[in-house]
Amino acid sequence: AKRVAILISGSGSNMVALAESMTGDHPARPVLVMSNDPAAKGLDRARALGIAAEGIDHRPFGKDRAGFEAALMARLAEARPDILCLAGFMRVLTPDFTEAWAGRMLNIHPSLLPKYRGLHTHARALEAGDAEAGCTVHEVTAELDGGPILGQARVPVLAGDTADGLAARVLVQEHALYPAVLRRFASGDRTPLYLP
Ligand code: GAR
Repeated sequence: AKRVAILISGSGSNMVALAESMTGDHPARPVLVMSNDPAAKGLDRARALGIAAEGIDHRPFGKDRAGFEAALMARLAEARPDILCLAGFMRVLTPDFTEAWAGRMLNIHPSLLPKYRGLHTHARALEAGDAEAGCTVHEVTAELDGGPILGQARVPVLAGDTADGLAARVLVQEHALYPAVLRRFASGDRTPLYLP
């Protein structure tokens, strides 16, 4: 099976959805979960699922992104993942890191890319008066939230929606989309998947 490492920063709900999907005839297995925040709730959730989980605090590295990434790389090298999944990982990666994982690294982003790269996606969709929002799984390249799209799921915007309410409904779709895309990707299928 393909070996999958998952990088998180927070609650790790997408990580759990991915990890729980990788059973039975699935072409991949989770081997490691890492966080740039050693206090991330998701690390305990990973351990509860029997997955090795480790924090590497980015803060002592200050502006030295390459130093933080070197520490990440060293631990990843031990786990030998074939695929790296970013799941709510909130650190920007350097071009050296994205190059090293080119074609092997996925991310989930809470907007219908190419709309709303970066942060505050739901507030921006509401501000723009969009009729629908959603999420995108894409390959990671040096361009932030800019790599080839592997899948999208759409969510209608409701009258009176708040950013938090919309985020919660999009998150439900993230938990369906990301595992579905990973399964296809791990079996060599990179044609985009559109849900629903
Ligand atoms: C998810 O909504 C994910 O799409 C978003 O953070 C949340 C993480 O939740 N990612 C980004 O904003 C990436 N820039 P989780 O930790 O419960 O999976």
